[in-house]
Order: sequence, then structure tokens, then C-alpha cells
Amino acid sequence: MPPITRRDLLQSAIALSASGLVCPFERAHALLDRYGIAPESAPSLSPRERLLLDFGWKFLQGHACDPARDLGFGNDQGDFAKSGEFEFATNKFDDSKWRSLNLPHDWAVGLPFVHDDSLQSHGYKPLGRKYPETSVGWYRRTFDIPKEDAGRRISVEFDGAFRSALIFLNGYFIGRNDNGYAPFRFDLTDFLNYGAKNYLVVRMDASFGDGWFYEGAGIYRHVWLTKTDSLHLGRWDSYVRTRSENGKRFLTVDSVVQNYGQQPENCQIRYQILDPSGKVVSGGEAHTLVSPGESKAQKGDLLLPDPALWSPETPSLYTAIVTVESNSIIHDAERITFGIRDIKWDADHGFFLNGKHVAIKGTCNHQDHAGVGAALPDRLQYYRVAVLKEMGSNAIRTSHNMPTPELVEACDRLGMMMMCETRMMSSNPEAIGQLETMIKRYRNSPSIILWSMGNEEWTMMSEPQGPPIIDDMIARAHELDPTRLCTAAVNAAFQTKFPEQLDVMGFNYNLNEIDAYRAKHPKQPSVGTETASTVCTRGIYSIDKLRNWVSAYDLSFPPWAETAEQWWKFYAAREWLAGGFAWTGFDYRGEPTPYGWPSISSQFGIVDTCGFPKDNFYYYKSWWGPEPVLHLFPHWNWQGREGEPIAVWVHSNLDSVELFSNGTSLGSKKVAPLTHLEWKVKYEPGVLEARGTKGGKVVLIEKRETTGSLASIRLTADRTEINADGEDVVILRVETLDKEGRHVPTADNLISFKVSGEGALIGVGNGDPNCQESDKGLGRSLFNGLAQAIVQSSRTPGTITVEASAEDLPSAKVVISTKKVDLRPAVE
Ligand code: GAL
Repeated sequence: MPPITRRDLLQSAIALSASGLVCPFERAHALLDRYGIAPESAPSLSPRERLLLDFGWKFLQGHACDPARDLGFGNDQGDFAKSGEFEFATNKFDDSKWRSLNLPHDWAVGLPFVHDDSLQSHGYKPLGRKYPETSVGWYRRTFDIPKEDAGRRISVEFDGAFRSALIFLNGYFIGRNDNGYAPFRFDLTDFLNYGAKNYLVVRMDASFGDGWFYEGAGIYRHVWLTKTDSLHLGRWDSYVRTRSENGKRFLTVDSVVQNYGQQPENCQIRYQILDPSGKVVSGGEAHTLVSPGESKAQKGDLLLPDPALWSPETPSLYTAIVTVESNSIIHDAERITFGIRDIKWDADHGFFLNGKHVAIKGTCNHQDHAGVGAALPDRLQYYRVAVLKEMGSNAIRTSHNMPTPELVEACDRLGMMMMCETRMMSSNPEAIGQLETMIKRYRNSPSIILWSMGNEEWTMMSEPQGPPIIDDMIARAHELDPTRLCTAAVNAAFQTKFPEQLDVMGFNYNLNEIDAYRAKHPKQPSVGTETASTVCTRGIYSIDKLRNWVSAYDLSFPPWAETAEQWWKFYAAREWLAGGFAWTGFDYRGEPTPYGWPSISSQFGIVDTCGFPKDNFYYYKSWWGPEPVLHLFPHWNWQGREGEPIAVWVHSNLDSVELFSNGTSLGSKKVAPLTHLEWKVKYEPGVLEARGTKGGKVVLIEKRETTGSLASIRLTADRTEINADGEDVVILRVETLDKEGRHVPTADNLISFKVSGEGALIGVGNGDPNCQESDKGLGRSLFNGLAQAIVQSSRTPGTITVEASAEDLPSAKVVISTKKVDLRPAVE
């Protein structure tokens, strides 16, 4: 959507606050401890090897249109038919002057901001055909392949890279992948040097985009080198399904055995099922003859007594181990994580999980985070899911693309349902390929409850091509996964034929058209695929057009959108609507709304780009979460505005709330479900206090105090011990305090960071949608009292010291220990 004009904004009042949520991870830790090792981190089962290929890359910025500045590529070497002649991927090439780095990597996040309106949707980063000197990146990695690997199948696998990847190995062109989100892989077996060095080169070109939001640039997800025997299980062919019959639970495990060898193989396929504690609870085996060159589908049918069901509250995960044996030799084995749960979409009563009605309390999210852009260390995926869970949310829509594997894994493990969306809505080969990849990759994940065929394809929705395209997509989705239904996010075309054939209707916005659509389609289940788009700046309580700020009261939204209270009241009142996904959980770079430059990120988030909550977080927490909530705002630092009326809001799910200013009661108000409370209070410095009552007893008290001048810096780490694996991160909250130790919600000091020992600063942020300080800098200004620093461990156990300093304040320090862990098997 284009950004709205300032005039479009609803007028709001004053206000503010930035409280709480130091460590949303505490509960997440407890869950992770309970559910064991992360499936993506678990070593592959012998003899298969899945080696992380993230460490030790070299990087060079190329050029999108000048071969002389692009390794000569596109000169005489542009002919892909010239096999073996790409010298940059051979031992003749010297990369010693290239920059060393590890993946995941996003070079866009470190680029300067450029005031060019054509760059607005991607967050004013100079990418695209007008910026050839910053749009191309070359990655190079040298590695050994032992002689003994001859005869194995060896592939390089990319979990996703942005964009237009060209892959070269040992002088040969290997292949290309255009889109920026779907994983891709290439079989390198024929091209490798066995018992010698190998030279892998990847040229990434972000001149074109896939979407209208910040997408990053480069190899921003993991890369793997996979080695299997010539007799092996097909990639993502193993698929576990469950069914209930006569009160008993059965499992079907589908797999495909591929024989790339020269001999027919008499195979024995074994199945083992492990419960969440790792105990073997079921098993079986099958036999089949697989001829050379043949791929043979195989099915195991197993009984599973009394399984623990997966749900957001109990994310119990099972493991299926599938092993292929021939002549008493194990040739391949695979570990598949799955969960057991029943889902049902009902046209009259919404969504059911394990037989219980559950409202979808969801958020849409793009994938970038403060400091790191699109290249998130795995831990940040868990952090982001934990923040949203803390709000009471139970679902994420991966708008508008297939997600990073570790996000899906985090949702499986922490208990967050997902609507998983593909980027390209079409039945062309590229789009069907992306859809197939998404479904095969993730169909074992219990968190996924719905596939989305795409978002708001305006033209297609009203043209005759729309229905046949979507029919083809849905047919293919059902073929690959008969257990889940399909939707698409539909906007402004509810009246056309297009949405009728969706299994589940997906409404984007347009609250006033939903009842009419329902009246005409009473048998179609439905969900709010996208709602809200409420805009708020964290810690700001009046619209300030000069500073591109919009108030954090739940009042402002672009013309197509709604407040939190408006959409949730509407959805909560309609049982047949399964709930919905608010746009967005996290703020994201790009699509700066409601203002353009100098805003570089959106303001739709319920939390900012760092994950710091805006006040609406507590509206959702009140009405989505299970716990008593009392949130009082704005802050109480209105020096110079003594005697002026300030709008004071409370988000609470208690029975009533009484407000006090410096000890004097300003009256008690009853909480009406799904709404907030509001007072007008004449500002006088001191203490504003809210007392929340439940069942006649005061159960929660919240205060906002006028703070004094700044006295210290506080650094709070989400953990004091992390893994010494070169991947784990500690997430630091940075703030300033007055001399009584109170958080100062209006502080904007520039904080400098010094990181020493076994770790490095990999990004900083503050959630300010207008801040153009570098995310890769060594310092960051606080924005309304807060900033975030992300520090990553090295692979040597020890300690990391993080020091934060600012002018006129004593510096603060935290020491993090990094513990020795088994490193994930990686290419050295
Ligand atoms: C929607 C669109 C989203 C985002 C949002 C902003 O129409 O699907 O990607 O642009 O508007 O409100």
C-alpha cells in the first residue's frame, strides 16, 4: 500500500510510555528445556552428513552493469555454455583482498540510507537498477572434499538467499535461483575435486525485488553441504501423518528411496517413533527392491498409543527416524520432527484445535529485525516468537513469503500456530515450484495450520484468470498435503468470483464488507488474514508531523485500516470468523507508513523493530492472554506542561481500575470487555498510580513517576550464559536511569558500546522509525529510553564483556559467559 498522506491520519491526543518486558524469554527457556534439542541443530544421522557451510566465506561487492567491476563477469564469460572456464571459481583466483565474513549475511542493512522515493518500499537502501554498485555481491568459499567421498551424492543447499543467485564450482556454472525466499539446492557430485580443494562462488544480485518491503540482500539464511550414500531417502519426501480410528491413533510415514547406484538394492526400511522425552514408543519395518536409477515410494503404518497432543500451550514434539538398510548396511537415515494435533475449520464456529474451539490471535510479520536486517541468528527467531507469545498471541502469518526454517522450528517448539504463505501467487512453473517447496519443506510441522496461496493480487482477483490459477495452486497443495486447507489474503475484491473456491476465505481489512460476503457464502470457513495496520510510535503521545511521529494511543490508522480495538471487537463478536492476523507484530524496515522520508521503517508494529512493546501490546495482552493485565500510560514526564490535561489510558482485563494522581483518587472505572479506560488528568509532577481490582480485591498496581535527571546506564542481558558456537547471541536492553534507579522513558542519549573477549557486536537498534544511524555502528541513541544491542559469541569458550558508555554518565558493564558446546557439524 502507498503511504498515506498526513492529512489522512486521525487526530489523536497526547501521550506515551515504554514500560516492561525485559526478558520475554524466561517462559520460552522453560519450554525449550522441556522440549529438548532443536531439530535443525541436531546432528544428521550417520552415514548421512549435513554440514553447516556458514563459516569462513569471502565477500566482494560487485557491479550490476559494469563487467570490469564485476570480476569480468558478463564480458566474454557471460556465456553460461562455456563449461569450466569461470576462473573466479578456480585455484587461479586470489580472494585474499575480499572481506571475510560468516553467514547469514545481509549486505543491505549496512548500506547508507538514500533519499530517493523509488527506494521507499525497501527502506531507502540503494538497491535496484539505479544503484548497480551496491546491488551485487560475490561470495566465495574454499573447502576440501576427502577422497573417500567419491561415490557419495553431495549437494549444496541454500535455505534462501536474496536474490538471483548464480552458483559456480571449480570453474563450472552449476545453476541459478531467482526468488529470494524458497530454499534451493544443487547436486555438486559431478563437479567436485575429490581429495583436493574446491572453489564455490555465488553471485547474488538484488537489483530486482520480490516484494514491496525491506528484503535484504545476500545469503541471509544458512547454507549446508549434504553428503549421502548413493542409496538414500528423497529430500523432503518423508511425510508423517496421523489419523484416529476407533479411539486409536495411527501414523503413516511416507518416504521415497532413491537408488543412484549401479546395483539393484533389496532394501529394508525401518521406522522408529520417539516421544517428546526421546523414548521409543512405536516402530515397524518394510521391504522393497529398488532398481538402479529408481525412486520408490514407501509407506509405513504404525500405531501410536496415547500420544501427547501438540498445542500452543503444550508444544509436544515427536520424532520419526527412518532408516534404509541393504545387505545389513545402513545406507541412509533421517530424523523427522512432527507433532500430533487435530485441526478443523468450521464455517459456523471458526477454528478448532484438538476438538477445542480456539480463536486465532495472530500477527503478520516480515522477517527483518533491528541490527541484523534479514540475516537473523537462529536465537533471534526464538526471541521474536517469545515476544509475541508473551502478548498472548497464538499464531503468526509469514507475510508474504515462505519463512526461514528456524522460525518454523521456533513456532513448533515454543507453541505458535502458523499460516505459511508463498510469495508468488500464480500457476506458472516458478510459482508452483515455490509452492511445492514450501509444502514439502514444512508439512511435518505441527505449527502450520493453513497454507496461504498469496496476498492481494489485485489484478488477478477481478480477472477471469484468477479462479483457474488459484484452482491449480490449491489442487497441487492438496496433492502434497491432504491434511491442511488453503486460503489466500483477499482485499477489496470480496465481491468477485475469485475467493469462492478458497477452502478458507481470507479477509484483508474491509470490516464493513465482511458480513455481506458471509451472507452470500455461509458454508465457507473464514479468517482475517490481515487486519489492523494501526500505526503507533513507541513512547510518543501526540502526532508530530514535523518529526514523523504518530501517537502510541490506539487511534491512528491509514484509510484502509483499523485500530486494535475496532478489529478485535468486530472479530471477537463473530463466532464464524476464526480470528485474525494483525498487521503487524513487529515493525519492519521499508514501507514507511504513515510518513515517508526520513522514516525508514513502518509504524504498524505492535512492538518496534527491536521487539520493545508499544502500548497496544497490552491491549492485545489484556484480551488475548490468560493473565491479569494492568498497563498505565503515558509516562509522567511532562515538565513544562504543568496544569495541562493529559489523556491517561489503561489497558486492563480486570473488573475495574481506580486512578490516583499524587495520592488523590481521580475515580474508579469499570472495564468493559475489549475496550480501554481513559481519564483526562491535569499534569502535575509526581506519581500517577492505577489500582486494578478483581473480585473486589486490588490485584495489580501500576505507577508512572516523574523521573529526575539521568544518573546511570543499565544494560540487561536476556541471558548471562550463551553457547560458544559462533552462532548464539545475547540480546541486550540498554536504558538510562535517574538517581533513584528509575527508567527514564524520554531519554535519548547516544550510547557507545565496547565488546571484548569471545564475542562481537553484530547489530544495534532502537525502534525509532526515523533513525538513520547505522545498524552496524558501535553506538546507538536511545529512542524514548531504550536501545538494543545484539552480541554474538565466537567459537572459543570464555567470557564476553559488553560495556556501554555515554557522555556525563558512568559506564555500565555486563559479562556474559560462553560455554563449550558440541558444535554443529560444519564444513571446516
Ligand atoms: C496490505 C498489504 C501489506 C501491507 C499493508 C500495510 O494491504 O497486504 O503487505 O502493505 O497493506 O497496511
